[in-house]
Amino acid sequence: MSDSKVLGVLILARHGDRQGFYQSPTSYTPTATKITPLGNREEFLLGQYLRARYLNASSPTFISNVNASIVDPNQVLVRADAGGEGGVILQSAMSLTQGLFPADADYNTTLANGTTVQGPLDGYQYVSIESVEPNNDISLEGWTSCSAFDKSTQEFYQSPEFKQKATESQSFLSQLARFLDGRPVTLDNMWNIFDFMNVRNIHDQEFHNNLPPTFLQQARHLANYHEYGVFSDKELNGIGNIAFRTTIPSVVKNLNSIANDTDPLKFVYYATAYKPFLSLFNMTGVAQMNPDLAGIVNYAGTVALEVRQLADSSKVVRFNFKNGTEDTYKRYPFMGSSSGEVPLEQFIQHLQPAAINSTADWCTVCGNDKDRGCGALALAASQAQESIHQKISPVGAGVLGAGLTLFVAIVMLLVLSFLGLVAFGKKGKRRSIGSVTSYEKA
Ligand SMILES: *[C@@H]1O[C@H](CO)[C@@H](O)[C@H](O)[C@H]1NC(C)=O
Ligand SMILES: *[C@@H]1O[C@H](CO)[C@@H](O)[C@H](O)[C@H]1NC(C)=O
Ligand SMILES: *[C@@H]1O[C@H](CO)[C@@H](O)[C@H](O)[C@H]1NC(C)=O
Repeated sequence: MSDSKVLGVLILARHGDRQGFYQSPTSYTPTATKITPLGNREEFLLGQYLRARYLNASSPTFISNVNASIVDPNQVLVRADAGGEGGVILQSAMSLTQGLFPADADYNTTLANGTTVQGPLDGYQYVSIESVEPNNDISLEGWTSCSAFDKSTQEFYQSPEFKQKATESQSFLSQLARFLDGRPVTLDNMWNIFDFMNVRNIHDQEFHNNLPPTFLQQARHLANYHEYGVFSDKELNGIGNIAFRTTIPSVVKNLNSIANDTDPLKFVYYATAYKPFLSLFNMTGVAQMNPDLAGIVNYAGTVALEVRQLADSSKVVRFNFKNGTEDTYKRYPFMGSSSGEVPLEQFIQHLQPAAINSTADWCTVCGNDKDRGCGALALAASQAQESIHQKISPVGAGVLGAGLTLFVAIVMLLVLSFLGLVAFGKKGKRRSIGSVTSYEKA
């Protein structure tokens, strides 16, 4: 039996099985792909699993006071990364929510004339999914169009440690060449090599039968090394952790909402790629305490951060991970706690200093002044600077020299951060989910 009550849960889940996907090893710019029936099934099963665990009154992890039959939009929040992997992640979220809140005969309404009408498909429930488009919201895909991140990736490839690994793996990689349809066989390209092999191994019988038994696992180990190196950082607030740093504001806001009994929110689900997992595992020390986690999670792999209330009414976060369809949630030690449970306040205070809180913050951190809303911010800043110049020039700007430059720089910074806030308020109808970069799509 459980000694604590589950107030709610925040889920991070990777998409399901999909067809080939290529991403540039230097910029992580992706190209299109599509989900498969197997992928839909994996996500649907995950939805059913989550339902059995959190929405079943006889489960010890049942979320108290949740409406488990008919979805209550104030209790459930779903956000899906609608970026590089096209519809794969969005459709994964659709499949998962179908398993989570299946059709229910009680999804009906009685009209004024006395007739009761049921929703279509035997009471199918339409769970709202917020599609998070990278171009107007940086929170679920912070790593693309980010030159500071590209630079850190290059530095990793140039590091003595990486070169050593490349040398060690050379003879294995040369054996792989004949399976790769002419793809570059270098350690830099390791993610694409592994992903190509994995997709073929699942979908192509001839490939599957010809591949020597240990090759996929060996390639996976190298890809794990590669991806953990790219999507982690020695510093908590380092650029390598950007894949989770942009998500922190929304995670913190939602965990606080779950912990607050006057707030209805109980179930939060982020549908993502594998990258935020790596940064999360690095930032929480979970990968350090459990080296198996320093790698790519399986399709439909998932983390559940459970917000629990203990007997003394203090609140803690419990870290659970499930490595895809065949696995079940297990509690993992993290942040130095061998119990796998950390006070909520401590968890938040640990992550918050590394948060990227706004688009303006992101533009600065990434060194971007044109894409994803940074252009408008940069233009506004330069206009503000110009108007300051015009006011000062009659006095003879020349004599003001360095002092003026410094002054302008400070004013620019102030203006930027001010605009950062104002611009978000204007862009669209904001949801009550906190991150300044989240909007409801029209
Ligand atoms: C009641 O209204 C619904 C919707 O307009 C209609 O389909 C139904 O036939 C009506 N029932 C009766 C008994 O008039
Ligand atoms: C995060 O990853 C880096 C490697 O990029 C490693 O040096 C560091 O120790 C990791 N941090 C933790 C807390 O595990
Ligand atoms: C997840 O599964 C993959 C493939 O079976 C495996 O290589 C990896 O070690 C697993 N990770 C964990 C944390 O169990």
